[in-house]
Amino acid sequence: MKICIIGTGYVGLVTGTCFSEVGHRVICVDSDERKIAMLKRGEMPIYEVGLNELVQRNKGRGYLTFSTSIEEGVEKSDVIFICVGTPPKERGEADLSSVEKVARQIASFATSSKLVVEKSTVPVKTGEWIKRVFKMYNSQVDFDIASNPEFLREGSAVADFLNPDRIVIGVEKEGPADILKKIYEPIINHQFDPNLREPSSPHPVPLVVTDIQSAEIIKHASNSFLAMKISFINAISDICEKVGADIEKVAEGVGLDRRVGRHFLRAGLGFGGFCFPKDLQAFIKIAKDLNYDFTLLKEVERINKERPALLVKKIRDTLWIIKDKTIGILGLSFKPGTDDMRFAPSLKVISILQKEGARIKAYDPASMGKAKELLPGVVFVSDPYEVSEEANALVILTEWDEFKTLNFFRIKKLMVNPVIIDGRNMFDPLKMKELGFIYKCIGRG
Ligand SMILES: NC(=O)c1ccc[n+]([C@@H]2O[C@H](COP(=O)([O-])OP(=O)(O)OC[C@H]3O[C@@H](n4cnc5c(N)ncnc54)[C@H](O)[C@@H]3O)[C@@H](O)[C@H]2O)c1
Repeated sequence: MKICIIGTGYVGLVTGTCFSEVGHRVICVDSDERKIAMLKRGEMPIYEVGLNELVQRNKGRGYLTFSTSIEEGVEKSDVIFICVGTPPKERGEADLSSVEKVARQIASFATSSKLVVEKSTVPVKTGEWIKRVFKMYNSQVDFDIASNPEFLREGSAVADFLNPDRIVIGVEKEGPADILKKIYEPIINHQFDPNLREPSSPHPVPLVVTDIQSAEIIKHASNSFLAMKISFINAISDICEKVGADIEKVAEGVGLDRRVGRHFLRAGLGFGGFCFPKDLQAFIKIAKDLNYDFTLLKEVERINKERPALLVKKIRDTLWIIKDKTIGILGLSFKPGTDDMRFAPSLKVISILQKEGARIKAYDPASMGKAKELLPGVVFVSDPYEVSEEANALVILTEWDEFKTLNFFRIKKLMVNPVIIDGRNMFDPLKMKELGFIYKCIGRG
């Protein structure tokens, strides 16, 4: 299949690369000239485990190419995936201006029939709007529209894309469904490099074929449900703290019920990133426009927004005065395995601490390049030990694996006060106490 991906970000680059890996010819297009120039030179604009190798391999064998020209992408392909960003607007709704612009450009450049697939996360009925754009700007060419929401997680995006729990396809007729089934066939049947196969992935991968509106709603409903699990366990963790219970044990006891499931029952600093916060807001706004007041999701959002301030309160409760104290931050990205800083809770925590007059030193294994632009006044250092030097407290904001094996004897010697505030419940409170730390975490009374 000849495929064009428009929008070569976290989703577009992973989608295009994985499609080329399973044998399709892919051209990835982006309006960001710097990004495309980097990819053409063989450099990666984002950090994602395993992606670099696949990009180089498929670029090398000519299956994956890059361009800044939508015209070229449209001309060279039969199927076009729209993967541009849909950031939040001020009132919470998704900004669809990039999706609309790309639809107009596809319409103006297409000279033969195309299947256009929305992969960006969009509000229900966006597919209908895209169809109208095609009619308005090009009535000569036949366009088919499909929705194919993406469920990959940053940090394990390649593994997720090639080993999904399910593939959702929203279509109006059988033809486009058949084309998408053909595109996904190698993934459905795990016909790719066995090293990239996750044994726990269902075989064959279930395919959910539905109408376009249902596919659009599936994406928003999935993200909202997962966000709801996180806020739920965080609310329970607040109760645990008040009564001296242990949220880790509570979550285990609740999550082992298969009707509930263990995933996303990790208490902590709450969710961030480019998906949950904005998709939740957008879904609340979509519901409002349909005259449904989604108070359940509003509460999920409220609980999440409180988390950074609650963590800072723990620091204040330990150090009393934050002004002029040196706070060492471990982890900045919104989760481990990615360099993505969009809507990372660390931004909020650091901003509150800076307002209170703290000096901030920080380390993150992947996101410091991006963080430097967003966090003025923060001193970035090259490892966790440098963060600990002269620190009055260490604050863990992202649960990177490399923090699990730190030498805490060394860290304690470097710090002014042996205080660790762990926003991600990475360590055993008893062990940390034995090591001589004042260790505060989440929901473990
Ligand atoms: N990041 C995730 O984990 C994830 C997961 C599932 C779904 N999604 C959804 O996928 C979509 C993309 O997310 P992302 O994280 O990849 O965003 P991103 O910002 O990393 O990538 C979007 C890319 O689109 C490009 N772009 C914007 N307008 C363009 C235009 N007119 N022409 C060509 N290129 C253009 C940008 O330069 C950018 O490189 C969003 O709707 C998001 O909600 C994201």
